[in-house]
Amino acid sequence: MSGATIELRGVRKTFRAGDTEITAVDDVSLSIPAGAVVALTGPSGSGKSTLLHLVGAIDTPDAGEVEVDGRAVHQLRRKDLIAYRRTVGFVFQRYHLLPALTAADNVVAPLLPYRTSFDKTERARELLAAVGLEHRADALPARMSGGEQQRVAIARALVARPTLLLADEPTGNLDSRTGADVLDLLLGLRDEHDMTIVIATHERQVAASCDRMLRLRDGGVIDDLDLTAGHSPESTLARINSLGA
Ligand SMILES: Nc1ncnc2c1ncn2[C@@H]1O[C@H](COP(=O)(O)OP(=O)(O)O)[C@@H](O)[C@H]1O
Ligand SMILES: [Mg+2]
Repeated sequence: MSGATIELRGVRKTFRAGDTEITAVDDVSLSIPAGAVVALTGPSGSGKSTLLHLVGAIDTPDAGEVEVDGRAVHQLRRKDLIAYRRTVGFVFQRYHLLPALTAADNVVAPLLPYRTSFDKTERARELLAAVGLEHRADALPARMSGGEQQRVAIARALVARPTLLLADEPTGNLDSRTGADVLDLLLGLRDEHDMTIVIATHERQVAASCDRMLRLRDGGVIDDLDLTAGHSPESTLARINSLGA
């Protein structure tokens, strides 16, 4: 097995802002097979983050079903919800590292409430090595570059061995070169760690590196493109660019 499968059926999420109701996710149905790397694209406000939150059970839909590995995650309560979230790794645009902790301690912070069968320090060392930062284990976030901080955040996302990694604009705060490196890192980790990865991004370059691109507008999926079928990265990008805004 490699990674989690995701199945959404008729998923809807609305928010109330004053008198108006905003439909952030509008009747979305889709399925993502195990091990896929999927880009969620679309302009700001199109529902990318909300969709990730629903898949990660950070938020619950108003209607529809969200199944991950056949489990209805929108119905989970307390203990099961906590257990489910531990199988999901999250990476955010703004790294969200704890400023008072070293890189190594940030990586294992999610495990602190738990007893583990393995040595946490050793796990931190392994994961920092996997993201190319073993030499920065004792550094504080304030002393690290944006790219380094995002690598630490990625190592932290992997600490509980997730089968699903959800990344929300992971390259959004990075220059294009550093962003490309971070993306390569994520894509490489997919194979080593047997994960399904969903990346919300408005960057076409990022989407072009994924297997599949789901394009959102006003909360709905307006395109579902297979990007694997024998195209070069350049032709894939040209194809995405031809879609227009
Ligand atoms: N907590 C919230 N309260 C009110 N409106 C929200 C909330 N979260 C998202 N929205 C609205 O839902 C829509 C989709 O937002 P979001 O999922 O963040 O889009 P994206 O990530 O593509 O920029 C937007 O109109 C946004 O303003
Ligand atoms: Mg967003």
